[in-house]
Amino acid sequence: MEDKRGDMKPKTPEKPWLTQGDEKLIAVREMFAEIAPSYDRVNSVMSLSLHHRWRQAAVKAIGIKPGDKVLDLCCGTGDFLSPILKSLENSGEAVGIDFCEPMLRQAEQKFGDRVQLMVADACKLPFAEESFDCVTVGWGLRNVPDLRQALSEAIRVLKPSGRFATLDMARPRGKVVGAVAEKSFHTIVPRLGKLVGHSTAYEYLPKSTERFLSRQALKEEMEAAGFAAITIRDFFFGNICLHTGVKP
Ligand SMILES: C[S@@+](CC[C@H](N)C(=O)[O-])C[C@H]1O[C@@H](n2cnc3c(N)ncnc32)[C@H](O)[C@@H]1O
Repeated sequence: MEDKRGDMKPKTPEKPWLTQGDEKLIAVREMFAEIAPSYDRVNSVMSLSLHHRWRQAAVKAIGIKPGDKVLDLCCGTGDFLSPILKSLENSGEAVGIDFCEPMLRQAEQKFGDRVQLMVADACKLPFAEESFDCVTVGWGLRNVPDLRQALSEAIRVLKPSGRFATLDMARPRGKVVGAVAEKSFHTIVPRLGKLVGHSTAYEYLPKSTERFLSRQALKEEMEAAGFAAITIRDFFFGNICLHTGVKP
């Protein structure tokens, strides 16, 4: 996969969490291009490696099984694709899309040709309608410039009775847990980012979480997009939330 950015130095804006529309699209893509080589390492430290369990739980919740054709949106370095491949047991198909080539290159190193990886925008999917049995997205919807469009694309490419799962950051429900979590999230994460030389990107994480939809609002957006049987499940004291839904 060729890096079309050549020798140009990436330019993440100072406050990418304040951007919108096309500006957000470019800012987010540049930010992930910068952190791609260290993304997995930092992710594991930040989540105490628990993110693998949450992904596994998501795959189980939507019952990915051998023979299914599964699309992972905003697949990044491909950490959602591992439990998906495991559940497919060498039968079926896994496709990952992301608009950031350096992130996809990390995924490519992990999976070779066991997964089809494509550069694509989650808001403009290059697939026909009713192409997939399942669509997943991990920590992706918070970053897209048009969440409604991304949800409408996800449901468009799902077959009838197709299942959808999104995992993302959330704000804890309890007052005490919420206050402690928020305080540590806003101090520890950016410091960790500074250690690996990417303070802006890791400041983006708590700041974009603060601006992201609540559990209920995301559920309502999923309903508006046409999803039914929506479920919500919290992990990690409510800092992480899984939403699932079905295309009627
Ligand atoms: C926080 S990472 C998550 C990566 C992976 N899903 C995971 O669970 O580790 C967010 C990813 O979303 C991608 N992304 C953000 N907006 C996107 C868009 N509109 N279309 C495609 N990918 C997008 C970024 O490039 C990045 O790789």
